[in-house]
Amino acid sequence: MAGTTSHPRLLAWIEEIKALCKPDSVYICDGSAEENERLCNEMVDSGMFIRLNPEKRPNSFLARSDPRDVARVEDRTFICSTNSTDAGPTNNWMEPSKMKKVLRGLFDGCMRGRTMYVVPFSMGPLGSPIAKLGVEITDSPYVAVNMRIMTRMGQGALDVLGDDGEFIPCMHSVGQPLAEGHESDRWPCNPDNTYISHFPETREIWSFGSGYGGNALLGKKCLALRIASVMGRDEGWLAEHMLVLGVENPQGTKRYVAAAFPSACGKTNFAMMVPPKGFEGWKIWTVGDDIAWIKPGADGRFYAINPEAGFFGVAPGTGLETNPNAIATLHANCIFTNVALTDDGDVWWEGLTKEPPAHLIDWRGNDWTPESKTPAAHPNSRFTAPVSQCPSVDPKWEDPAGVQLSAFIFGGRMSKDQPLVYQAFNWSHGVYLAATMGSEATAAAVGQAAMRRDPFAMLPFCGYNMADYFNHWLNVGRLNPNPPRIFRVNWFRKDENGKFIWPGFGQNMRVLEWILKRISGTGYAIESPLGWMPRYEDLSWEGLDFPKEQFKGLMAVGRESGTVEAHAHEELFDRFFDRLPKEFVYERELLRSRLWRSPKRWELLAGAETAPGGL
Ligand code: GTP
Ligand code: SPV
Ligand code: MN
Repeated sequence: MAGTTSHPRLLAWIEEIKALCKPDSVYICDGSAEENERLCNEMVDSGMFIRLNPEKRPNSFLARSDPRDVARVEDRTFICSTNSTDAGPTNNWMEPSKMKKVLRGLFDGCMRGRTMYVVPFSMGPLGSPIAKLGVEITDSPYVAVNMRIMTRMGQGALDVLGDDGEFIPCMHSVGQPLAEGHESDRWPCNPDNTYISHFPETREIWSFGSGYGGNALLGKKCLALRIASVMGRDEGWLAEHMLVLGVENPQGTKRYVAAAFPSACGKTNFAMMVPPKGFEGWKIWTVGDDIAWIKPGADGRFYAINPEAGFFGVAPGTGLETNPNAIATLHANCIFTNVALTDDGDVWWEGLTKEPPAHLIDWRGNDWTPESKTPAAHPNSRFTAPVSQCPSVDPKWEDPAGVQLSAFIFGGRMSKDQPLVYQAFNWSHGVYLAATMGSEATAAAVGQAAMRRDPFAMLPFCGYNMADYFNHWLNVGRLNPNPPRIFRVNWFRKDENGKFIWPGFGQNMRVLEWILKRISGTGYAIESPLGWMPRYEDLSWEGLDFPKEQFKGLMAVGRESGTVEAHAHEELFDRFFDRLPKEFVYERELLRSRLWRSPKRWELLAGAETAPGGL
């Protein structure tokens, strides 16, 4: 059985793309288990998939990509709005008709010798008023089976689409047509001609040349963030690079928060956190780990859904100690990409176990032993797993109405000068804190930490001018009486020996608890130049031996470095010229003034011995 539709525009589009791409055959996916089984078996036959040991990892597969196709390619990602200023200074831009011409050339005949899969999907629960439908046309069966986990894919989406429903057309090709009689590469791709193109005005996506992750699973970053952010701007809602979790205290009170951390900065871990010793009776519930669609309700409060149905999570660093819920989620029905293969047909990656196995096949397909100089799993190796398999999945994770948010948390990866946690003074200050967020990419070779600004963790994902996005956030807060409170966090501060000061992972619960107390009006904080900060005694330390001296090292920010940071914000802002919100200019000046005009408070703050009233 294949998927069926009588949607005239969809059928016409399929015909048009078929004529352009010239595949050997066309197949409409129905999303069934039988179809999945068949596609997976075909990939096992073609060498694209390795079936894992069914006793250890039932119905699960390993894929190894071309070593040139291992991550999103930001320098090949384009926002093709009519005017370049609508893409803004942080996006690559090309004039839409010019880009279309390039793409039509590349797509012409690009599926020769291959099957063209039509992959209908819904971002958000099927039929939810918040959900959006898309149809991805792809020549990658790997994409089709991943989309089945990551989205609500198949006949159900076609049924919701009906005969005249709206859908976002998503074009994808790995960009490697097969000449007569030629065999396909195991992982076909075309790294020299990669284009991840978005047309925000016509709401189209065209992706060519890569088969990996966000480049190819077009419902994710391309639709649910870049195109959806534009829809959100036009319709008064937010599409964000955020996890959503619920936190329940021992009394049974439950609140939801959304948190934006840049890629590979701990969203999946935080979304599935297991409360540590000292937090007995607390529970974390997972709604989503990467993307949130957030809409203000009639009550002026903010409601979030997870548009995805799966996790596409970073494998390395995921272990029983750091993220037991993820490990449990991965027990079956998963796709692993670029991790290592064990001798008994299971998967392994750095951090899965303390001791590495004595022998592995690494992500490139070579023998590997603990003596090997290169990692067994690629640092951006990933698992694709159904959200429904997560032990901490929230009972409301598919609620079409979404969950009500009490806080927004923003956090980058900063080895110095950013405190563990503080709270914004108000909405516009919070938007400023999110907009000026920085994060370090540890350049493996040099070992040097280079910081880049990643406003709202959305730098690679905002489908329009980022300054307009800042204004949109300010407006959304202004227009609604009950916006969530805003916090900044940083789990990644290091000591002089380069060691993380904060134990992180489950221990982040201590920070979350303080945030909850602040929301409910029971948490204490002192007014620092940066924002509202907890004193040592305002966090719960039960079950953890964390000396006060060390806490100081986590929270303190020198006046000089704080000022250097405030100056640096100007560099970011200058790029936006007159589109920058006026509020930001004043926020920066206020920050500078607070840094210089409150030396006494600043000194005390580092120790946080005295309540604000005593300053
Ligand atoms: P994307 O899926 O790329 O958007 O990223 P993500 O934010 O979901 O990343 P993920 O949660 O998979 O984090 C990846 C890395 O962050 C892993 O190497 C983790 O070990 C590390 N990490 C997560 N939480 C913490 C923490 O609390 N402290 C420290 N030091 N590292 C953490
Ligand atoms: C990210 O890079 O933020 C991801 C992985 O979540 S990908 O889907 O490949 O973009
Ligand atoms: Mn992400």
